[in-house]
Amino acid sequence: MLNWSDFDNLRVVKRLKSITSSWWNAEIIFSDDKGVIRNIDREKPQVFSNKLFNMIIKSPRGLDIIEEFCRKNIAGGKITKTTFKDWEEAGLPMLMVPIYLDDNFSGAVIATAFFADSGKEKGNEKLYKTMRDLGYTSKDIESALAECQPIAKGQLDHFKELVELIASEIETLHEEITMRENKISQLNKELGTRYRYDNMIGKSSVMQDLYNLLDKIKHSSSTVLIQGENGTGKELIAKAIHYNSPRKDRIFVVQNCSAFNENLLESELFGHVKGSFTGAVKDKKGLFEIANGGTFFLDEIGDMSLSMQVKILRVLQEGTFTPVGATEPKKVDVRIIAATNKNIKEMIAKGEFREDLYYRINVINITVPPLRDRTEDIPILVEYFIDKNQKETGLQKKKISKGVLAKLMEYNWPGNIRELENEIERMIVLAGDDQILEESLLSSRMAQVQQTLTVSQSGSGQKTTIKYTGTLKDAIEALEKDLISEGLKSNGWNKSKLAKELGISRASLISKVERYGLDKRRTARV
Ligand SMILES: Nc1ncnc2c1ncn2[C@@H]1O[C@H](COP(=O)(O)OP(=O)(O)OP(=O)(O)O)[C@@H](O)[C@H]1O
Ligand SMILES: [Mg+2]
Repeated sequence: MLNWSDFDNLRVVKRLKSITSSWWNAEIIFSDDKGVIRNIDREKPQVFSNKLFNMIIKSPRGLDIIEEFCRKNIAGGKITKTTFKDWEEAGLPMLMVPIYLDDNFSGAVIATAFFADSGKEKGNEKLYKTMRDLGYTSKDIESALAECQPIAKGQLDHFKELVELIASEIETLHEEITMRENKISQLNKELGTRYRYDNMIGKSSVMQDLYNLLDKIKHSSSTVLIQGENGTGKELIAKAIHYNSPRKDRIFVVQNCSAFNENLLESELFGHVKGSFTGAVKDKKGLFEIANGGTFFLDEIGDMSLSMQVKILRVLQEGTFTPVGATEPKKVDVRIIAATNKNIKEMIAKGEFREDLYYRINVINITVPPLRDRTEDIPILVEYFIDKNQKETGLQKKKISKGVLAKLMEYNWPGNIRELENEIERMIVLAGDDQILEESLLSSRMAQVQQTLTVSQSGSGQKTTIKYTGTLKDAIEALEKDLISEGLKSNGWNKSKLAKELGISRASLISKVERYGLDKRRTARV
């Protein structure tokens, strides 16, 4: 929405207007793209210094006549450049400069009520007729005309330039306003971005989605399955779910299902009665019983045996379990959150995981993306871990070098956030008294991280990103391998055709295919 009064009040515009007014007694008005005059109040027209113009707009018909002219000559972009036009109806010339905002025609700056050629207008029949129609006498008209300053021939270009300047000032102001507004909405958006949820850090869109999901499931008691690679924060999420739920004042129990053999796990989860097996010297409460009323986090659920899965399913379905060696089942109210880094669907296909248990657990699914897929979180995670370390040690806060950050952004992070946390801690320790964490402190697997090279493939205009390690030779080889591999696929493995395309002999192509291990059978298996 354009605010025309902002333009009218612009200091430069005011100054330009006063120059055109004092030199030539010309008035400046703004027409919008529909031909409506935007700087004259129809109900209460302001007083202009040009007497003739004042007489026109003071009469109720006056502004109608001007707007009619604008509709005919300006509206909808009828002018595309600075245009001189006689104001046919009133016999006054109009200088119109179009205004383009964001490349769209948005109206015009109009200079009017000046005389381009001295004397000519004074006897202008049309002008007299219009003014008489508006209710003025010849004497009124004569006295108004006496005040008008003609524009000398040599000044016309200056006059034009000044009016054009007003239009360009308006365009510049609009650009600035738009830029500022964009900046404001950008800042606003960033404020809306959550950088953390409890102890979870991350501003990437996937983390935002995760936070929103956590907010939604806060009040429910549904079972949750959290899937994600090692160290992606599954346990942290489970805790966030518990501590934001109505069960937050009750216990949060964690059990890693892969840590025990089956018998021990069963006794751990469900408890046992005295004498039920060797070593069961007294009754023992199981974790399900301990977790009653709270949340039970079953970690690494993919490592659980099929027979244990049946027992867990029973707790989920009936809320009951039987301690080892007991005869009576016990009833509990426990919210279960399960986590795994395994591909459960694949396990189901192989018969290693019960499908019914999967559906029972997977009421709400949270899949945590690996760190390499949300690299925009790396800088704030690094900052967070440096901060955390500083708080723990009380030593001066260290800074990370740009080079280190670049390597961390490129690294593949098989151990995800845990690996990042350990890396930062390690670097801080190794840095000793140095305040900057430099590349030399990086562990070797990260120091050797691959650089990426983006190349355009000839002809296709397509961009390919190639990862390489080390020297230029390595980069060229990586590029060669990539071109051949892509070429083979796009040419349907026709080596003669591809050799021609790449401008090398067929024999040379075959030897390269062998060297890079790109022959069809091997590639198909990968
Ligand atoms: N988004 C995060 N922000 C800050 N710290 C995180 C985040 N995600 C994980 N961490 C930290 O990384 C470490 C690993 O997290 P967690 O134990 O929750 O991961 P996990 O997925 O359960 O790992 P695993 O599969 O190895 O059991 C913890 O120290 C945790 O505090
Ligand atoms: Mg874990």
